[in-house]
Amino acid sequence: MTVTATERPKLVTILYATETGASEDVAGALSREAEAADLTVTCQDVADFDPEDLDTLDVLLFVTSTTGEGEVPYTAEEFFEAVESEDCPDLSGIRYSVLALGDSTYEQFCEAGKRLDRALATAGAVRIQDRVDCDVDYEDTAAQWRGSVLAKLIGEEAAKPVAEAEIAGSVERSPRYEPLTACVTENRILTAPGSTKATRHIALEFVDEPPAYAPGDALGLIAHNDDGVVDALLKALSFDPAIQVPSNGRMISVASALAESYEICALTPRFIEGWSKLASSPGLEALQSDDKARIAFMHANHVIDVIRQYPISGLSAEEFISLLRPLQPRLYSIASSQRVTAREVHLTVAPVEYELHGEARRGVATGQLVLRAPVGSQVQVYIQPNEHFRPPAPTTPIIMIGPGTGIAPFRGFLQERSCETNRGKAWLLFGERNREFDFLYREELEGYLSDGILTRLDTAFSRDGSEKVYVQHRIAEHADDIVAWIDAGAHIYICGDAGMANDVHDAIVQALARSKQLDAGGAENILNTMRRAKRYQRDVY
Ligand SMILES: Cc1cc2nc3c(=O)[nH]c(=O)nc-3n(C[C@H](O)[C@H](O)[C@H](O)COP(=O)(O)OP(=O)(O)OC[C@H]3O[C@@H](n4cnc5c(N)ncnc54)[C@H](O)[C@@H]3O)c2cc1C
Ligand SMILES: Cc1cc2nc3c(=O)[nH]c(=O)nc-3n(C[C@H](O)[C@H](O)[C@H](O)COP(=O)(O)O)c2cc1C
Repeated sequence: MTVTATERPKLVTILYATETGASEDVAGALSREAEAADLTVTCQDVADFDPEDLDTLDVLLFVTSTTGEGEVPYTAEEFFEAVESEDCPDLSGIRYSVLALGDSTYEQFCEAGKRLDRALATAGAVRIQDRVDCDVDYEDTAAQWRGSVLAKLIGEEAAKPVAEAEIAGSVERSPRYEPLTACVTENRILTAPGSTKATRHIALEFVDEPPAYAPGDALGLIAHNDDGVVDALLKALSFDPAIQVPSNGRMISVASALAESYEICALTPRFIEGWSKLASSPGLEALQSDDKARIAFMHANHVIDVIRQYPISGLSAEEFISLLRPLQPRLYSIASSQRVTAREVHLTVAPVEYELHGEARRGVATGQLVLRAPVGSQVQVYIQPNEHFRPPAPTTPIIMIGPGTGIAPFRGFLQERSCETNRGKAWLLFGERNREFDFLYREELEGYLSDGILTRLDTAFSRDGSEKVYVQHRIAEHADDIVAWIDAGAHIYICGDAGMANDVHDAIVQALARSKQLDAGGAENILNTMRRAKRYQRDVY
């Protein structure tokens, strides 16, 4: 049920659930606007909100992203458990609205926001504004939602000046990122010849004053598309590369716009819908009403493949650009500590390479880093802070679980600890395919082990034996030790693939359940308590 609010709220609670900061930015903007409208506001990370206080809320405005494959941001899991539980109290005293951030190329688009909206309504809360689902270019849609929500709370007339101030820029906006120039000083393959992978170590040195970064932060790379893909599009569409098109409020050549400003590989539902209308194609049209088929089509085709399969003549460059979405920066966990590398950041990058329609295809950012980022070249980057993935005090014991490129932040953590004289125990669980070829940073890690910076190193090489072994199997094997470390106050960190993180979580739950003779719920409670105390942190992608 959606109703129009009649009462001016006593307190507006804005909560956000974020993995990479966008929801926090939107919540911050909403908070500033609500304050400008003289509302009493509290804005906080859902991680810091006690679900026990749910039924005391007056107005709840919730901004949440979706992560993994349709999953809730890690820090919001407990809140979701509370609102989705059968024991959730009656929330009919709450007026609420949800803004869902997501990415329309994912099968479960904005799933966390959808779940939350459903759960709050089921618990009796009164929706004052319909949920809005945003794609990665969320800014305008989110601003509209903020305006509508404020209008519902204080009335259209009162909300108008706030909206006008926002348009004029007088309501302070937090810049998502300030790009900085960095020079590539190292770009080498970490895996040995014979490996099925070509994971890279990349070192970047800031050209100007280096920004401060902390262990756990990520680096955002402002990626550029491959010239070969740009040329293929220009040719297939018969565009003059010099034709001017609008991009970020200015006119630039279509060739530059395609290279720098737009996502030109991955398909989106919006592109398919637009192209289907222009091409009058029943095949594409049928995808509009079949979510599964559309997702499968999006995985099996890029923009260029659609253009080739469903050609259109007479399309203008501007029309084409209007079907594309802005090119998003790519994030990489920082694999260094500024206390050691000062002006540099290090990255551990797994190139994305595959074949489609008989052609070799590469990921946008990893393609750039592999093919067009030789030592001496420059890239545009920014620091993405990650407050939810900070190492504990140096004396606190720590368990780090980071297979594959998940090792990256832990290299930073270990460098940081190497600067300390008084250190707690540190246990690293690393996994990859083959010990011989894929033991990333092997010498460094073994050095840390012999120096006592790392107390214990367990590895799981999945393709070395007849049976596949992953880090979660090592956790099961060493369950008693894991529990003993937890009992001794260890903090647990998991980084890397989202599926791996779930398997590792289950393995830790089982270890705790067996050792403490609890059911799975009881073991989950231990991890929830650890999560609240910031003793259990995950950074997954
Ligand atoms: C917080 C965070 C930290 C991260 N840290 C790291 C890190 O330390 N190291 C690292 O390497 N990465 C990391 N990533 C992932 C990184 O941000 C990029 O997503 C990744 O490098 C791919 O980017 P890309 O531009 O090269 O590929 P994109 O151009 O984004 O292409 C990737 C897409 O290609 C498509 N694709 C892939 N394989 C196939 C296939 N076989 N068939 C069809 N389509 C396919 C899929 O649609 C996939 O989504 C991190 C991500 C996050 C969110
Ligand atoms: C690893 C990863 C997984 C994601 N999974 C989904 C998904 O399943 N569904 C979706 O709609 N969006 C997904 N997204 C997109 C994010 O929800 C979107 O980028 C959002 O703007 C991020 O907001 P945040 O910075 O507040 O986390 C994913 C993003 C990342 C990095």
